[in-house]
Amino acid sequence: MAYFEWASDMEIDQGPIDQDHQTLVRQVNELHTATSEGRGQEVVARLLDELVRDTLEHIRREEHYMETLGYPQLAQHRAGHDSFVADLRGLQEKYHAGSITVAPRLSTLLRDWLSLHIRRYDKDIAVFLRQKKREATRTPRQRA
Ligand SMILES: [Fe+2]
Ligand SMILES: [Fe+2]
Repeated sequence: MAYFEWASDMEIDQGPIDQDHQTLVRQVNELHTATSEGRGQEVVARLLDELVRDTLEHIRREEHYMETLGYPQLAQHRAGHDSFVADLRGLQEKYHAGSITVAPRLSTLLRDWLSLHIRRYDKDIAVFLRQKKREATRTPRQRA
């Protein structure tokens, strides 16, 4: 069993958002494997930097997606992203400053945050999307 398992209840759009999340899950597993096998600092640093870069890229894409949808809870959702990014960056800096004990904490932080955030907050985007589609297909009489 993988350290971090992708599950169907994490599905959001069956498209780019899910692909991003699946990539991040795979990267968290790679980071976890590298740190638990005691792989060299160079390998861990590279995986870590890729993971941080792709997480930021995903967040940017997801926020842009919410903007185009007119998603009403964007500000709240963005605040959640911002505080996570601050934690992530803090740990990344510590790692680069020589604290090797930080790497295992990073895979735990990423796994727990992603797992909870996707299921609790990203999921609301899917709910909103379904509502929007339902409203768009309703006849004007049903809407009244
Ligand atoms: Fe999100
Ligand atoms: Fe997300």
